[in-house]
Amino acid sequence: MTSSASRLEPRRTADGSFSLFSSDFGEGFHSSRGALAEARSKFVAPAGLERWPRGSCLTVVDMCVGTGSNTAALLEECAARGLELNWWGLELDREPLRLALADAAFRRQWQPAALERLEQLGASARMLWGDARQQLPALLEQQRGQVHLVLMDAFSPSRCPQLWTLEVLSQLGALLHPRGRLLTYCSAAAVRQALRLAGLEIAAIAAPSGLQQHQSDWSGGTAASPGPLPAEPLLRPLSPMEEEHLRTNAAEPYRDPSGTAEREVILRERQRAQAEAMAAGGVEATGAWRRRWGLSSSHHQ
Ligand SMILES: C[S@@+](CC[C@H](N)C(=O)[O-])C[C@H]1O[C@@H](n2cnc3c(N)ncnc32)[C@H](O)[C@@H]1O
Repeated sequence: MTSSASRLEPRRTADGSFSLFSSDFGEGFHSSRGALAEARSKFVAPAGLERWPRGSCLTVVDMCVGTGSNTAALLEECAARGLELNWWGLELDREPLRLALADAAFRRQWQPAALERLEQLGASARMLWGDARQQLPALLEQQRGQVHLVLMDAFSPSRCPQLWTLEVLSQLGALLHPRGRLLTYCSAAAVRQALRLAGLEIAAIAAPSGLQQHQSDWSGGTAASPGPLPAEPLLRPLSPMEEEHLRTNAAEPYRDPSGTAEREVILRERQRAQAEAMAAGGVEATGAWRRRWGLSSSHHQ
């Protein structure tokens, strides 16, 4: 894999919107349902923008900017609600945004003002290029306790555990304003548990099929906040099934005290900790939990 062209392949998702597949990470940037649908249902709608009066300025951190779809969708909704954004972006690779902005169909997806602002932000000093783990301490120094929204959209924990560690999630949590929210598509027990260990309240984001629990589609993601997360049309408390998930070995957090560990090291260390916890007793095997609740897939782990 020498050129970016072989690492990132453009994809059109079910709703017609632009996305990418990364062969480095072996994963798509968005669910096959659609980049636009995902940005709106998992990041913009559960943000609770109605909580702020017109004219407010929200501080936002886009964690893993990628193509910029989450930021663009947020920009459109904020413009409609008369909200300003004080924006920060974190991203390792310049290619996803460059490829998206060069794609005519991606450009047509957005209102011209949102697209123009996305281009400006991507070229600004607020766009922090590099490994997010190295960028977070400086951002935290400036913005601790002031961020209203963190849009956490890293590749899934098994593909990119570096960004789902207790250390990274604790730093993202420390950025949050008391009424702020971290939003993610991820419902993994290890991520939810780490958010709790970081002292945050958590709630489930409604699944695409709605708030009722379907066996194979039980959650659309997770919201976390230093303060209470009231039940809203798109948020609900964790169900008994989800609470039990957090008492299985899948809830063992990813850890990276050095902030520089490779994927394989983080995965191996977690496996060791899981084996130790199982041997000590008191932790259920996730397979048993899944069978008890009639769940077949393991993609939320
Ligand atoms: C799922 S994609 C993000 C999708 C994006 N939000 C969008 O709407 O297009 C994950 C992104 O994480 C970036 N990434 C991977 N490792 C990273 C790291 N250590 N620090 C910062 N970004 C990273 C990848 O380059 C990729 O763009």
